[in-house]
Amino acid sequence: MFVLGFTAVLLATGLVRADNITATVNLAVSKGDPVHWASGVIYGIPDTLDQIPDHWYTDIGFRYGRSGGAQLEAPARGWIWGEEEYKGRLESTLSNYKTCRRYGADFILLPHDIWGTDHANDSTVWPGDNGDWADYDNFIKRLMADLKVNDALDGLVWDIWNEPDISIFWKRSQQQWIDLYIRTHKLLREDGDYDRVEISGPSLAFRPVSDNTWWTDWLAQIAGNDTVPEQYSYHLEGETDEWDNDLQNTNGTLEELLKTYNLPTRQININEYANANEQIPAGAAWWISRLERYEAYGLRGNWLGGWNLHDLLANLLTKKSDPLDYNARDYASGPEYQVYKYYNLNMTGSRVETSGTGDRLFDVYATVDSGKVRILSGARITTGNWQITVQGLTSIGLPSAGSIDIQTWGFAGTDVYAEVDAPSDRGIVSHEYSDGVLTFPIYQTDASTAWAFEFNV
Ligand SMILES: *[C@@H]1O[C@H](CO)[C@@H](O)[C@H](O)[C@H]1NC(C)=O
Ligand SMILES: *[C@@H]1O[C@H](CO)[C@@H](O)[C@H](O)[C@H]1NC(C)=O
Ligand SMILES: *[C@@H]1O[C@H](CO)[C@@H](O)[C@H](O)[C@H]1NC(C)=O
Ligand SMILES: *[C@@H]1O[C@H](CO)[C@@H](O)[C@H](O)[C@H]1NC(C)=O
Ligand SMILES: *[C@@H]1O[C@H](CO)[C@@H](O)[C@H](O)[C@H]1NC(C)=O
Repeated sequence: MFVLGFTAVLLATGLVRADNITATVNLAVSKGDPVHWASGVIYGIPDTLDQIPDHWYTDIGFRYGRSGGAQLEAPARGWIWGEEEYKGRLESTLSNYKTCRRYGADFILLPHDIWGTDHANDSTVWPGDNGDWADYDNFIKRLMADLKVNDALDGLVWDIWNEPDISIFWKRSQQQWIDLYIRTHKLLREDGDYDRVEISGPSLAFRPVSDNTWWTDWLAQIAGNDTVPEQYSYHLEGETDEWDNDLQNTNGTLEELLKTYNLPTRQININEYANANEQIPAGAAWWISRLERYEAYGLRGNWLGGWNLHDLLANLLTKKSDPLDYNARDYASGPEYQVYKYYNLNMTGSRVETSGTGDRLFDVYATVDSGKVRILSGARITTGNWQITVQGLTSIGLPSAGSIDIQTWGFAGTDVYAEVDAPSDRGIVSHEYSDGVLTFPIYQTDASTAWAFEFNV
């Protein structure tokens, strides 16, 4: 529950100091047009074209997909089971690629899935075993040729290998994976047709910090081999209290590592974000705020398995009948869907500069459109008391003092399978402000509801 109460009047002019309770919005600093950095999902797309009707993609500004046929059974278990089983996974991948491109979304290819890591173990063959790369090279060349023939290079990002640092996706040494990375990068760059295809890596499950040798050894060797990806990718799906499971900290630690290895900065892609508990409206708004601030692409983590992995847009959607019946088509909006829909359809105009609270538990994303300011806010699945300070009111044509009527919308829901069709109207409260700065309190008494605040200019 949320209550708009008293108005705190800030006497200070200019920048408001970051503290543990204040999130800021600075209307005077534009960050350009919305691009929906956070509107990506890993898997979540059915293999049957058109199974999920268009509007479910377009309403959220769908921006990025990522797949490779994971968890399909025979005859689609992947390359290591022979050509037919490779084709099964390729077909699933191409279908998802087509769906993404139809909505203008880019597509991240997961070759480790087309290889078939989910049907592999210690005893099956892995790329480069005993120094023999012939089979892996054939796999890469075949995949490159098939994507080309199927006209699937536009908007394609080749994600060299997913999460080699957790044992389910890689059963060999760290060095064998780095060799794989460098070898694949070189193979891709030997083919001029692939110039327009971006490469992403390392897509590690763990974070870019100086004592993580998966990162440091990889960075040192890609520097030495001139094989820098176009996108640095990694995952943020750990616990909420892990210091490095937060872009606000890892953006800086990665920057430091890049300096250490004399590597260029590149686009960041958090191609799996948010743990399962964070997939409620408050968590969604918190993650959107973070990804927007650091201008990192983000794809929602997907915590489903089997055919359900290939459905429901990573739990943004549910179904009126049985959400886990893959063949049912009575799609409905889950709780978080409404947050992404508001983020895309309503938060138009220019994005503006923001900062989150110093305790890193509450954050905001904001836009200014002709006549309207909109602020989306979320707590990192916890309760607490915070406040939002809006600076730069005069820069959008408001007087330096006066009163502002704030309309509040609540995005509720705790169960990804519950249908929630709209945010709820929480009314309008008037706030006095002065010195061009407005502050209003947030009393977050549940850990799940996200809020949107709107006022007219
Ligand atoms: C590894 O996978 C192969 C192929 O599925 C299977 O035959 C074998 O029993 C598995 N080995 C172990 C140790 O699980
Ligand atoms: C280039 O990459 C290989 C791994 O494929 C590695 O053994 C070698 O050390 C790297 N070279 C440099 C100069 O980093
Ligand atoms: C994030 O890190 C990049 C370097 O990787 C840096 O250029 C950028 O300014 C940082 N973003 C913020 C908002 O600090
Ligand atoms: C968001 O925008 C849509 C389309 O303009 C509109 O119908 C809807 O009422 C708006 N929702 C909110 C919460 O303002
Ligand atoms: C902010 O919170 C952290 C713990 O999250 C605490 O260590 C620090 O003292 C707090 N700072 C202020 C100014 O309250």
